[in-house]
Amino acid sequence: MADQTSDQGQAIEALFAEKRTFAPAPEFQKTAQWKDPAVYERAAKDFESFWAEQAHRLDWFEQWKTVLQWDDARKAARWFDGGLINASYNCLDRHVDAGHGSQVAFAWEGEPGDTRTFTYAELLAETCRLANALKELGVKRGDRVAIYMGMVPELPAALLACSRIGAIHSVVFGGFSADSLRDRIQDGSCKALITQDQGWRRGNKILLKNIADDALKASPSIEKVIVLKRVGDAVDWTPGRDHWYHDVVARQSDKCEPEKMAAEDPLYILYSSGTTARPKGIMHTTGGYLTGVSSTHQYIFDIDPSRDVFWCTADIGWVTGHSYIVYGPLANRTTSVLYEGTPDFPDKDRFWAIVEKYNVTVLYTAPTAIRTFMKWGPEYPKRHDMSSLRLLGSVGEPINPEAWIWYSEQIGGGRCPVVDTWWQTETGMIMLSPLPGITKTKPGSATFPYPGVFADVVDQSGKSVPLGGGGYIVITKPWPAMLRTLWGDHERYLATYWSKFGHLGYYFPADGCKRDEEGYYWLLGRVDDVMNVSGHRISTMEVESAFVDHPMVAESAVVSKKDDITGEAIAAFVTLKGGGIGSKEDADNLRKHVASKIGAFARPKYITFTPDLPKTRSGKIMRRLLRDVMENRPLGDTTTLADATVVKNIADLAQSSPTEE
Ligand code: WTA
Repeated sequence: MADQTSDQGQAIEALFAEKRTFAPAPEFQKTAQWKDPAVYERAAKDFESFWAEQAHRLDWFEQWKTVLQWDDARKAARWFDGGLINASYNCLDRHVDAGHGSQVAFAWEGEPGDTRTFTYAELLAETCRLANALKELGVKRGDRVAIYMGMVPELPAALLACSRIGAIHSVVFGGFSADSLRDRIQDGSCKALITQDQGWRRGNKILLKNIADDALKASPSIEKVIVLKRVGDAVDWTPGRDHWYHDVVARQSDKCEPEKMAAEDPLYILYSSGTTARPKGIMHTTGGYLTGVSSTHQYIFDIDPSRDVFWCTADIGWVTGHSYIVYGPLANRTTSVLYEGTPDFPDKDRFWAIVEKYNVTVLYTAPTAIRTFMKWGPEYPKRHDMSSLRLLGSVGEPINPEAWIWYSEQIGGGRCPVVDTWWQTETGMIMLSPLPGITKTKPGSATFPYPGVFADVVDQSGKSVPLGGGGYIVITKPWPAMLRTLWGDHERYLATYWSKFGHLGYYFPADGCKRDEEGYYWLLGRVDDVMNVSGHRISTMEVESAFVDHPMVAESAVVSKKDDITGEAIAAFVTLKGGGIGSKEDADNLRKHVASKIGAFARPKYITFTPDLPKTRSGKIMRRLLRDVMENRPLGDTTTLADATVVKNIADLAQSSPTEE
């Protein structure tokens, strides 16, 4: 924390410059699902009853026996134990059975402009066919299935097909490299992979099958691969292992009995960056997760399934897509837009063209995107009639008040409430957010914990900080969508999330937070070595190990630098073997190398070559000083350095030879 205070000081100043507050508009409140603040008290009084009430929103084959069992020694929660449930059944069958089969589940728009719609009945049939194909290929309950695809409508069907037969999906974002895919497949010993030939991104083809083939060279657990034809270019083929989606899926029956899963059976694994180079396999289970995402989706986005068209612009490869494109919205019988491509293809008004075309009523996107739209200017949204919008959401990183106001005015026309939602891959569901019919919002604040969620802001020792003060955010009671473990490594789970304040029973998210005099929470970013670049979590260690994997590199240290658009940008300090100063071309080669090791989203923006890195006498790299260098701040305390001239040299090098992309 001490490491971060100067960063946070600046963040706090910027946050509190905006003084306006926004009370719910009476017209909005009239139809809002929740408008009585008593819901907070009701949930606080008896949170188990509150969550049980929320779990009743779902269809259970068998009702649970206990709402929550908590093993404090193992930090192991069992929610709705004894209950039997199936996620795909809750997302599909029950809506079709209730007569809503012809309602659109996904209106899909391909990047090149092609479109398809899937009604609930069609999505159910597709899910069943794919589930039957998986079974035919030998996938059984409890097996892990890797999914590496672009944003095509078969992607949500793939998640649902796994959950239908009780297989555990492990989705790997389609922007990850072969190495990253391989590591994730190996960690989960996945038995099958679902992928596609190529994907579209900004008019370019992403060679998904090629990359997957590379990954599979060292993924012995994979027995079968299903390949969807999306773009149509030829791909390499391994007979016996590879199966075309249109062969193996199309011929299956469109009926498949959903498995009756225990509430605590795993639903999925999703990898996220931690403070070491090795990604963490965050594991979610079924009943509690579905309860959490369905409740938060309904009440935070004020969803009326007969009225709303919901569009979450995230990729399904990240948790936001899992929870608020697939499981939450479908459990709530929502009509959603699904878009394959980028916001600037073919032009910078693509998002607003989509909002107009599909009459989107609720839009959920990221601050990075909003800041990019601000930079592009208001003429792009102005080209379109966006009067269908009634609510706007933000997720992934702190939203600066200026971007919040711009979003509210330029996109929301000043009439849409803005919900800034704070949560993590680990929390599974939104933890802090305004309730749009209740909460007076303040631009830049995620406001308060959701009903039934308990948070605090504490100091180093875990003591609650009085209102007006800052420290760490902690979650003080279990919640239904919480991660249950890290796949195959419960010890790391305990060490990562529970070693700091676990003796007090607090979950530690590793985010800094300030609470104002009225108790509003203001999230201030990570306090560990995790960077947040365009809402993507990237570990400094992961990037460092990609650097040292290059034959030219002796050592590297990676820090984040504030960025007007991406929130944070990656800044690397690199020592070459032999100690020389690399050229611009060397820097570009290293950038390419990092992108090929992790994925293009992890390309370092700044590279500074230096003969030495600032280290303590015990050899620990002092990243705090490197952050000071990058932010042009006076260097903090350098007395613990083994050689104080090193950092002075680096500061000069960073000034005189900036290698910026
Ligand atoms: C950050 C994304 C401030 C935070 C859902 C967290 C936020 C990390 C917000 C999780 C927000 C996410 N305000 N910070 N509204 N939302 N974060 O796992 O640092 O990809 O710890 O989950 O993003 O990122 P993850």
